[in-house]
This record gives sequence, C-alpha cells and structure tokens, in this order.
Amino acid sequence: MNLRPARMEDEVFLYRLRHDEAYAAASFGPPPDQNKHRAWLQDVLLDKAGERVWIIEDAGSLLGCVRVSVTREVSIALTAEHRGKGHGTEAIRRVLDLWRQWNGPTAFKARIKPENAASRRAFAKAGFVETEVVMEYRPNG
Ligand SMILES: CC(C)(COP(=O)(O)OP(=O)(O)OC[C@H]1O[C@@H](n2cnc3c(N)ncnc32)[C@H](O)[C@@H]1OP(=O)(O)O)[C@@H](O)C(=O)NCCC(=O)NCCS
Repeated sequence: MNLRPARMEDEVFLYRLRHDEAYAAASFGPPPDQNKHRAWLQDVLLDKAGERVWIIEDAGSLLGCVRVSVTREVSIALTAEHRGKGHGTEAIRRVLDLWRQWNGPTAFKARIKPENAASRRAFAKAGFVETEVVMEYRPNG
C-alpha cells in the first residue's frame, strides 16, 4: 500500500467516495455538490483548504483517502470493496509516520461517531485513545 498526495485527476474518485453511503453516514456534514467538491479539491491542491489529502493506493488500485486538517484531525475512508482487510488501520499508521518524518512528534485527533465500530477500532489499533464523550441536542431530530 502507498499514500500519495491527491491530484486534480482524483476528483471523480474522491467525489464518489464522499458520496458513498457509509462515508456520508460517518461524516459530520452533508456531502458537497460537484461544484463545491471541485472548488474544495482545488483549494486542497493550492494548500488553501486547511487540510492535506492523500490517496491510498495498492497495486494501481485506488483504495480510499486519508485527510489531515490544520488542527491535526485525521479522517479516512475506503471504498466499500476495500474495507475490513486491514487497509484502514495501516493507512492511519502510515499517515502518522509520514507526518512525524516531516514535523517530528505530533498529537492528532479523530472525531468518530459512536456507532462507527470499524473506525473506532481502526484508530484504536493505530494508537488513538478515546478521550471524550460529545453530546448533541438537535431540535429537528
Ligand atoms: C473506517 C474504515 C476506514 C476502517 O478501515 P478498514 O480497513 O475497514 O478497517 P480494518 O480492516 O483496518 O479493521 C479495523 C478493526 O475494525 C474491525 N472492524 C472492521 N469492520 C468492522 C465493523 N463493521 N464492525 C466492527 N468492527 C469492524 C476489524 O475487525 C479490525 O479489528 P480487529 O483487527 O481487532 O479484528 C473503513 O471501514 C471505512 O472506510 N468506512 C467508511 C468510512 C468511515 O467510516 N470513515 C471513518 C470516518 S471517521
């Protein structure tokens, strides 16, 4: 497996991934429309989006992406066919290693919904520890 920086030609792959049902359910905001998504990726490539994005590849296949924000929040998504095979855990470890090589020891965080057992377990296996319970009140359910 390899991590490489996202490129403009990853636009369609990233857009489809962002609209994947499980990733959309795991995310904290709604998936963007195509124009917003393109503008976001352009900003990422110009280093104006407040986050870095890597593509997870293996033997020429695109497996998913991993993102690290300026606040050192890590998020990750794999395409459905590549889940449950250890790639998520490995990609999280890899991105932390890459970051360490450039910037030295760094603290990271991840925001994960309680029902997302695979994500909680993958981050825990990569060395993350659960530290917070966040409660929300949503007037519209
Ligand atoms: C979350 C995600 C990145 C995890 O990557 P993955 O490659 O599927 O996970 P791994 O194969 O590395 O498995 C990690 C652990 O979770 C467990 N696991 C995997 N799927 C699971 C599931 N559906 N329920 C419970 N545990 C699960 C695995 O068994 C493994 O634990 P183990 O080694 O103790 O058996 C991936 O499932 C995904 O892309 N999901 C959709 C998007 C998403 O939820 N992103 C996270 C946003 S924070």
